[in-house]
Amino acid sequence: MNVVERLAALRELGAYDGGINRALLTPPERSARELFASWARASGFTVTQDRVSNVFARRAGARADQKPILVGSHLDTVPTGGAYDGAYGVAGALCALELLDSRGIRTAHPLEAVAWAGEEGSRFPLGCLGSSVFAGLNGEAEVMAIVGDDGVRFSEALASSIGGLLDGVPMRGDRNVAAYIELHVEQGPVLEDRGLSLGIVTAIAAQRRLRATVSGRSGHAGTVPMAMRRDALCAAAELVLAFERAARDAGDAVATVGRMIVEPNGTNVVPGRVTFSLDLRSPDEAKLDTIEAQLGEAIGRVERARGVAVELEALERRTATPMTPQLRDAIARAIDAIGERYADVPSGAGHDAMSLGKIVPAAMIFVPSIGGASHVREEQTADRDLLLGVEALAGAIVEVDRTVD
Ligand code: HGY
Ligand code: MN
Ligand code: MN
Repeated sequence: MNVVERLAALRELGAYDGGINRALLTPPERSARELFASWARASGFTVTQDRVSNVFARRAGARADQKPILVGSHLDTVPTGGAYDGAYGVAGALCALELLDSRGIRTAHPLEAVAWAGEEGSRFPLGCLGSSVFAGLNGEAEVMAIVGDDGVRFSEALASSIGGLLDGVPMRGDRNVAAYIELHVEQGPVLEDRGLSLGIVTAIAAQRRLRATVSGRSGHAGTVPMAMRRDALCAAAELVLAFERAARDAGDAVATVGRMIVEPNGTNVVPGRVTFSLDLRSPDEAKLDTIEAQLGEAIGRVERARGVAVELEALERRTATPMTPQLRDAIARAIDAIGERYADVPSGAGHDAMSLGKIVPAAMIFVPSIGGASHVREEQTADRDLLLGVEALAGAIVEVDRTVD
């Protein structure tokens, strides 16, 4: 099977009219891990998993004593996901290892195709969950205690037979890795605008995720005078706009409030409590500090003016992650060797390479997203570009094999 055929199979798992919903440790996401494992076994690779449900498919190297080069991405999606974000890098990694097999190319390093658990943070509010535990950035015990948006604790979800660990797959046992390469759709417009099929990522932007809870006072929509209200939703609205304004003023930063829960959520009840997500990113950490400081000032103003209380919780902080120059050069050599051109592209989107890049040399290869669309059902990449990305990844693996210890 080539990568196009594999993506066609994966996209059925969690598909509905709004796109693909394959949240971590749910039946469709477990089915995707099972499919990945079955493909890997069929190709003769050794499949293992770890205690937070990352799945690994190992291809032996000439030097078994060397740490493996890992190539992978994630199988989970946002609630309205497309067919390519993450899945392309997992299926592509498997296809790249098979391509080396078909060409009789043996690397010195063992190779492992990886499906990282819960990169999106859609169900459990920690992005890059599996790769950050693997990289030692978040503790396993800490992650086991995380409660998902559905009220289910991670450890409980893991223990469930319908969404948990794969049956009969042994534990990987160690966290050895020599280097990491991730193949991913760009999720932006740059490559398409420049008419290019391949990109080499320069750096991944810093990102922070927070949760704000505004507590006011519920009341009858018809009887509470405006001057006496402590309307949590109106207070939240002011904070959302202040957050947006801070990012616009900072420049080269993005701020998003994508999820909001209004309680009691009745059409004739003044909202007493509102909880909303905050996602902010920039290549420049100082800008994120400025945005957070201005948000803090806005919170003080709104609390005093409206008599509400605002709690702000930091859920995740990922520093900016530059990609490793030696690996970028190795990828460039691989792309040159197949007669293709490329652009150096920054990534505003987060990736598991943020986790691995904190502990080993790491790099990413992008292919174009049509219209720059991603995290929506319309996400699409041309088959030719999908296949080219796998070629580039296979060549990059061989070059990196010669580059790292
Ligand atoms: O949010 C992101 O950038 C990634 O898709 N998790
Ligand atoms: Mn992704
Ligand atoms: Mn994503």
